[in-house]
Order: sequence, then C-alpha cells, then structure tokens
Amino acid sequence: MSRIKTICCIGAGYVGGPTMAVIAAQCPHIKVLVVDMNEDRIRAWNEEDLSKLPVYEPGLDNVVTQARGRNLFFSTDIDGAIDEADMIFTAVNTPTKTYGEGAGMAADLKYVELCARQIAKVAKNDKIVVEKSTLPVRTAEALKSILTNTGNGVKFQILSNPEFLAEGTAIEDLDAPDRVLVGGDISTIEGREAVQELVDIYAHWVPREKIVTTNLWSSELSKLTANAFLAQRISSINAMSEICEVTGADVEEVGKAIGKDSRIGGKFLKASVGFGGSCFQKDILNLVYIAKSYGLSEVAEYWHQVVKMNDYQKRRFARNIVKTLYNTVNDKKIAFLGWAFKKDTNDTRESAAIYVADLLLNEHAQISVYDPKVPAEKMYTDLDYLNTRTEKENRALLHCADSVYDAVKDAHAVVLLTEWDEFRELDWNKVYGSMMKPAFLFEGRNILDKEALTQIGFVCYFLGKSNLV
Ligand code: NAD
Ligand code: UGA
Repeated sequence: MSRIKTICCIGAGYVGGPTMAVIAAQCPHIKVLVVDMNEDRIRAWNEEDLSKLPVYEPGLDNVVTQARGRNLFFSTDIDGAIDEADMIFTAVNTPTKTYGEGAGMAADLKYVELCARQIAKVAKNDKIVVEKSTLPVRTAEALKSILTNTGNGVKFQILSNPEFLAEGTAIEDLDAPDRVLVGGDISTIEGREAVQELVDIYAHWVPREKIVTTNLWSSELSKLTANAFLAQRISSINAMSEICEVTGADVEEVGKAIGKDSRIGGKFLKASVGFGGSCFQKDILNLVYIAKSYGLSEVAEYWHQVVKMNDYQKRRFARNIVKTLYNTVNDKKIAFLGWAFKKDTNDTRESAAIYVADLLLNEHAQISVYDPKVPAEKMYTDLDYLNTRTEKENRALLHCADSVYDAVKDAHAVVLLTEWDEFRELDWNKVYGSMMKPAFLFEGRNILDKEALTQIGFVCYFLGKSNLV
C-alpha cells in the first residue's frame, strides 16, 4: 500500500503546472498541491477563464478542468504544502548563471537550494524529495547535505525524476511518455522503497516497461544527455542546410533520405533558423561547464560546438536578409511571422526570433511582428533583456501587429520564424498584394510551398534549399 497521500510541487511553471495537472487527473486519490512564490502565476492558474492560464498548451485546459478543486490545488502557501506533503517535487527554474564563477555556462542553483532549505526548515516528518528540475549531475548530493544538516532530524530520501516533455505537446507527452526516469539511492532499502513509491504513482497510467529506474547520477546525467543529443541533431541538420544552399541539394530531401535509416530515425531533422526554448542551450552549456570542471576539455569543446552552430545559424539567417535587401534594411519594414520558439506555445525563451530581430534592429530596420499567442509586452521584455539598445528605442522600432495582414502591409520582406499552422493557410496572394515590391520572403521553418510562392511573385529564400535561381 502506497503511503503517498499528498504530493506537493514547488514551482508552477511550464513543467510544474502541466506535470502536476496530469498526475492529479490520472491519480484522483492523491492530493496534489502546486505552490509558487509568484502570486500572479498562481492567480492565473486559479483563473475561471481557462484561456488565461499562465501556460498555453493544447489540452491543458481539459486536464485542469478535470482535476482543479478536486485533488489539484494551486497556492502560494509553500510552507503549508511542504508540511502536508509526503512527497515534494521541485520544479523550479535552473537558468544559466549570469554572475560570478561559471557565468554564462553553469546552472544557477540558487532556487533549488532555497527550496531545499525551506523544505528542511518546515518538514516535521520524513519526506521524499524529488528533483524535477533539470540539474547538473551530482546535485542530489548537495541537496542531501543541505536537507540533513539544516533539517529537524527527520529523514529525507532524494529522487531524480527529470522531465522530458516538450512544450506544445506537453499533455500528449505526459499522458503517453516514451519513458519515465526515476533515479534513487538504490544501494539502500529506504532508497529502493522511495523509488518504488514514485514508480507506483506513474504506474497508474504509464506501462511498467516504460518506467526506467537507475542510480541518481545516471538519472541526472541522462536528462542533460537527452537534450544534448536532441539539440545536436538540429545543429547537424542546420550545418547541412548551408551546404545544401551552396550545392543545390535540398535539406528536406536529405533529411528524409537519412531519416529512413532506422539507426538514424526521422525525427528532429528539420532545419530551422535555430533551436530556441529555455532548455537546449542552457543544458548544453551546463554540460560543457561540468566537463570543463572535471578537466575534460575535448568533451566540453565537442558539445559547445552544438550551441555555437546554433548561434551561427541565427546570425547567418539575419545577415542573409540584410544582404538580399540590397545590403540595407535601414527604415525598411520587415514583417515577422511568429515570435514563440516553436508552435503551440506562448513561451518565447531563447526564441530565434528575438536574436534575428536584434540583429535587424542593429541595422535600423522597422519590425512588425504577428504571433497568435505572444503579447507585445513579452516581445519587448525579450528584447530589453538583451540590453542592446534602450527600452524606448525597442518600442519605437518594433511593433506588435494584430494580424498577419497588418504586419505585412507595406513590408519589404516577410520572415517566417515560428511554424504556426495558421501560416500555412494564409492568403498569400493577399499578402503579396499588400507588400512593397520586390516582395521578399525568408522562410526559417520550411513549412511553405516555395514553388507556389515564387509563382505568386515572391522572391524566396528557403533555408537549406537552392536559392540560386
Ligand atoms: P519556469 O520558470 O516556467 O517555472 C519555475 C517556477 O518556479 C517559477 O514560476 C518561479 O516563480 C518558481 N520558483 C522559483 N524558485 C522558487 C522558490 N524558491 N519557491 C517557490 N517557487 C519558486 O520554469 P520551467 O520551464 O517550468 O522549468 C523548470 C525546470 O524544469 C527547469 O530546470 C527546466 O530546465 C526543466 N524543464 C523544463 C522543460 C520545459 O519545457 N520548460 C522541460 C523539461 C525540463
Ligand atoms: C525540449 C526537448 O524536446 C524535451 O524532451 C525536453 O524535456 C525539453 O527540451 C526541456 O528539457 O526543456 P522543447 O524545447 O520544449 O523540448 O521543444 P522541442 O520540440 O525540443 O524544440 C526545441 C527547439 O528546437 C524549437 O525551437 C524547435 O523549433 C527546434 N527544432 C526542433 C528544430 O529546429 N528542428 C527540429 O527538427 C526539432
């Protein structure tokens, strides 16, 4: 019989919210408390109007409706939730450090440590603490030390249970994961029992053979490894995209041809303007830092190249826009289709669009952006964060449009940056009609039909395709 009656999750972000909503929906007998220090976020999770949830994910509204108020609760009462819970997940952010030793590389673990100290302070009975955030390998050791040295004499078991969901498909991924990974101190009976408690929760809906158990360090490192391998595939195909452009090969055909090899597989071979999202870059840089700190400089340099290639792809795409527009975009209106880092999410963290915009704004372009899920304030925050120019300048140079047609009116070029489905369905004749001529189109996602657009009259640049004619 499981002794887990109540679980709590510290961190109600893109991972904590959806993950706990799915656990609550799948396990109605478990009380799930999701807590965060950000009051606005918690207020938004409790919104009656589900379109105002802080995270946009297809299917999330249904899951929240099913469980919220029944066995799923969102609040800012962190101490109360820690006290009540038998098992505590930490799903707080672990961004790249911006200061001190390891700045720009290492993961900033201050939020994780704060959680550990708060758990230690509040806990009056034994708890299982689950690392849900993505962490450097051997973080569990530090957590254990904090929990045992600052706690009230109660016992803690630490588990690593990294999350593999991708944004935009989070609910599908959580409902039917490729695998669930649980790492624990399997050298002790208590450690094995704790692993089993968590396995039993997932086993309510995940087939047992998909639940993988390992030691703590393998679990922590597997998460970084998975993201590094996924990102590496994108940088690899993006590197090929440039070779395709100069040789007349077509990157989609190449991707399809190699993907048929079952050893390679067809997924994650789409060339793009560069991968974005809060994790790939941060996790690889973290891996690079770990390798360096163990003196493994070749290993570090090998993985670093994946991020460098990604930065290069974004720069190359932006430079190509400037070059094609007769070497100047000064005062020219450029329409951006998409700002989110991929479709079906309102998340913009590390989106390639931000960097392409920044490079074009350096050239004094006027940018008009349409994204179906990203509000203007978020675009400005993203740009301001780069600190390239004043907030006033960013607001003067970038405009957030209400529709595609508003964005493209009198534009010299349209630039597709996010693969939202609605961009496939646009009236491209109408778009062409309202633009300056020649009407340039830069496709950063390869979702459109190059031939059809060329027929309409667009001068097209498609990533990884022959743009010689
Ligand atoms: P996020 O920024 O969306 O959410 C983190 C939340 O934690 C924030 O709301 C913040 O207010 C809260 N928080 C931070 N410190 C706190 C504290 N001491 N007490 C209470 N609340 C606190 O981050 P996210 O995207 O959900 O990512 C969380 C972790 O999961 C990261 O380590 C990330 O690498 C990992 N991850 C993310 C994804 C993803 O798709 N976003 C997928 C897999 C893993
Ligand atoms: C990624 C991983 O896919 C998840 O397994 C992981 O849990 C998560 O990171 C994390 O740790 O945060 P996510 O970043 O949400 O998920 O989305 P992806 O689908 O991986 O896309 C990341 C970026 O790569 C996007 O900008 C996407 O457009 C780009 N991409 C993806 C490509 O350019 N080409 C591809 O073939 C696939």
